Amino acid sequence: MKKSYEKPIILKLQTGFMNKYGSTPYYSRKTRSEIDGVPIDTLVTKFGSPLMVFSESSIRRTYNEVFRAFSTRYPSVTFGWSYKTNYLKAICSIFHQEGALAEVVSEMEYEKARKLGIPGKNIIFNGPHKPFEILKRAASENSMIHIDHFDELMELEQISQQLHKPVKVGLRLNMETGIHPQWSRFGFNLDTGQALDAVKRMKHGGKLILNGLHCHLGTFILDPQAYAEAIKKMVAFAYEIETHFGFKMEYLDIGGGFPSQNKLKSSYLPPELTILPLDEYAAKITNALYENLRPGDYPRLIIETGRALVDESGYMITTVITSKRLPDGRKAYVVDGGINLLFTSFWYKFNLEIDREVPGVNEPAVVYGPLCMNIDAIDEGTLLPSLPRGARLIVSPIGAYNVTQWMQFIEYRPNVVLIGQQGELDIIREREDLTDIDRREKLPPRLAYK
Ligand SMILES: Cc1ncc(COP(=O)(O)O)c(C=O)c1O
Repeated sequence: MKKSYEKPIILKLQTGFMNKYGSTPYYSRKTRSEIDGVPIDTLVTKFGSPLMVFSESSIRRTYNEVFRAFSTRYPSVTFGWSYKTNYLKAICSIFHQEGALAEVVSEMEYEKARKLGIPGKNIIFNGPHKPFEILKRAASENSMIHIDHFDELMELEQISQQLHKPVKVGLRLNMETGIHPQWSRFGFNLDTGQALDAVKRMKHGGKLILNGLHCHLGTFILDPQAYAEAIKKMVAFAYEIETHFGFKMEYLDIGGGFPSQNKLKSSYLPPELTILPLDEYAAKITNALYENLRPGDYPRLIIETGRALVDESGYMITTVITSKRLPDGRKAYVVDGGINLLFTSFWYKFNLEIDREVPGVNEPAVVYGPLCMNIDAIDEGTLLPSLPRGARLIVSPIGAYNVTQWMQFIEYRPNVVLIGQQGELDIIREREDLTDIDRREKLPPRLAYK
């Protein structure tokens, strides 16, 4: 085969400096020839490239590990699967099979959960936008509605009247716990008395029965102590409500926000060194419950963790389309999947693994996606050996917030494949084609090309 010619240039090679722990984790070369025992080659031959791949074993293993961390410490624990993190039917179904409720934040997500067969009583309905009709449906199906604002509270009172029954509701709270910026735009603020006002309004209205408190602090929370602070405040508030208004809290929902083993761009150190085991989160939360609850009182603890349960189960296989030398000397690779598929590349510096051993030294490189847009860069500063056209770069972890936030922009979205526990290979979302793009569009006849 004729070798391609590249004009010689003089380059200072940087093979990566050791950090203070003596390793170069993000710059050392890593290869990956398989996912769950299935060769990368087989996956691409069968399903094409780019390709999103999920490991069922990894999802179930992670779920059970995290669930055990809580359930061995506290008598009443329920997980709610955060649909927005990944709402592919197959992925949600795995979580439901493991025992998770559905945690939804929109009409679409509510309908998705119902269509999967989840009964209303097993749906937690969060979020600031619950249109009246879906709110009414959720109330009539006895779902766990967490009120976000006063207008919703009033609407629920109206719904209670229309349904001729009291409606059980939870209240979403936000509060100071040491996490900044504080997610104060969702729910009612506890510290300013806004949440107490909401309870007073509910009591006064006489139509709603408050039976739960909810608080989601934010995402990728690195300090588990924040959850302990939240629990302390929520328990105190629960008892205040019970004493003064007679509503008994049946559950405390601490939301999600646990970090996954991903590397934030803003973090110097790799995740193994910055992210505490989820066991520590479980210990902090359950200890805070025991320290603040009355003896013998065990309201149900609900956890809505999303990314921590699914991120590491997802991979994206891409193929090198071409490479070129940038004027600053860096090597640029263009691969066939970019930010259109990996929304989280704005925050994360992913692992990049090569499907084969490539000889030669690592050199500074940039990895671009296929879009004809300058922003389409998966990694703007890494070290890679000279990759030939057709080599595969496997990007991970990508299981959280990508197959929901990805864009149909310029390119078709690819197949998504689930590797089952027995090595089954199932497409769980088909590659798009032009009919998907065209389906919702209308061309007025006067504009037809003649
Ligand atoms: C209400 C609620 N619960 C749970 C989650 C899941 O969060 P995470 O993926 O950070 O665990 C979110 C995400 O923003 C959320 O808004």
